[in-house]
Amino acid sequence: MTEDIRKKIDKPIFHAVGAAADRLGRDCYAVGGYVRDLFLDRHSKDIDFVTVGSGIEVARNLAESLGKHVKVTVFKNFGTAQLHYKGEELEFVGARRESYSHDSRKPIVEDGSLDDDLDRRDFTINAMAICVNGPRFGELVDKFDGTGDLKRRLIRTPLDPDITFSDDPLRMMRAIRFATQLRFSIEYATFEAIKRNAGRIKIISRERIYSELTKIMESERPSIGWSMLLDSGLLELIFPEFAALRGTETVNGRGHKDNFFHTLQVLDTVASKSDNVWLRWSALLHDIGKPATKHWVDGVGWTFHNHNFIGAKMIRNIFRKMKFPLDDKLKYVEKMVELHMRPIALVEDTVTDSAIRRLMVDAGEDIEDLMILCEADITSKNQEKVRRYLDNYVIVRDKIIDLEARDKLRNWQPPVDGNMIMATFGLSQGKAVGEIKTYVRETLLNSDSPNDFDYARRLMLEKGRELGYEPIENKL
Ligand code: CTP
Repeated sequence: MTEDIRKKIDKPIFHAVGAAADRLGRDCYAVGGYVRDLFLDRHSKDIDFVTVGSGIEVARNLAESLGKHVKVTVFKNFGTAQLHYKGEELEFVGARRESYSHDSRKPIVEDGSLDDDLDRRDFTINAMAICVNGPRFGELVDKFDGTGDLKRRLIRTPLDPDITFSDDPLRMMRAIRFATQLRFSIEYATFEAIKRNAGRIKIISRERIYSELTKIMESERPSIGWSMLLDSGLLELIFPEFAALRGTETVNGRGHKDNFFHTLQVLDTVASKSDNVWLRWSALLHDIGKPATKHWVDGVGWTFHNHNFIGAKMIRNIFRKMKFPLDDKLKYVEKMVELHMRPIALVEDTVTDSAIRRLMVDAGEDIEDLMILCEADITSKNQEKVRRYLDNYVIVRDKIIDLEARDKLRNWQPPVDGNMIMATFGLSQGKAVGEIKTYVRETLLNSDSPNDFDYARRLMLEKGRELGYEPIENKL
């Protein structure tokens, strides 16, 4: 094992860190996310080092050995030091022991051993350390069997999960985020503890929650995270408007689909087609107006009339509460939510040019994103119905392309105009000029190069002569 790890970290920077620690007689370890990602062959550009004793001194000693241009940034309050070297960010901190009070995320921090430091970490896969000191270079410290959990693909806390989550409730979100990113499971006892401690999420800032949600949304299958947020009880606390989509109701034996699971399906389909995280948010929010607009209408069934407009109106408040950016991202999501019913309405009626043109104007350059969302929105179990709608969307897409091309031609002007025709033949405005112009125009439109000036000029001369006119220059 050590030999394998030694090979993985056999880079000048690790040897340089080890040498600096050796000079000061300190034990020093690469730790946390970097070690996890090393075993998973994931790229990570930040490397965290833990030293037993001051990490700041090791960072300074290292910087001196790397050359004058390497600057150390010290964060005294946190007892950490940071430096950048050849595109990598290195952070040093002394090993510590932390204890937490109930109502704050701020721990009481004391110097500690490597063991203490690993004990206070969130998950076993994040609680491994690799020694970089010369004699022990590549030696793994893995007191909680993090490597075993990596093989089992399991998220598990090193200590009693109630303590780990109560110490720092953000870790409940992190557990779900890692499970989503890595496609790992959360160990039963760990997940039960998230359920028990969910209420503690209230002491976590919105920005930190948002950052975890973003990482869930950027994952390959974001639905994994959202389902876990629902099952753990966290969703109800951090995003009640979305939790409200869960459930179905039945009247006279007729139910409606569960809009929560429908939304997750739409979200995953969109995620498989686009990396645009705001399109993914649009997918998540596209039916957010449904609970507020749900009605049972005798003789008709369940209706969600205007849910797209009501939903679009809800977006600003949701963004504000979540501390999302209130800029063009907000406008984009509002637009997507509002317009998500338009293409389907189009294919239900006959697809007229003017309706398509209006949609193109309203969606602007985001028309392709809107089509991705609308195609994903068809989640019926009836495959025949799905195919029929998707076929109709192909017609809409073709019409869009066709209309775009035609609209371009509408504004198109041939490279030879009436003034040039009059000047060339010494003609004043009249029937002949119109005839030449139409001939040039129509011939160019049927050709492959409608903007070729020389060709246009030749056509003009040809038609002029046919009508009995000679260019002035030839007459002189
Ligand atoms: N950590 C922790 N509890 C937290 C945050 C971090 O115990 N709430 C520990 C973990 O050991 C983690 C390390 O600090 O591996 C570094 O944290 P961070 O850089 O936030 O996360 P990474 O694990 O590196 O993962 P990512 O970069 O994907 O956020």
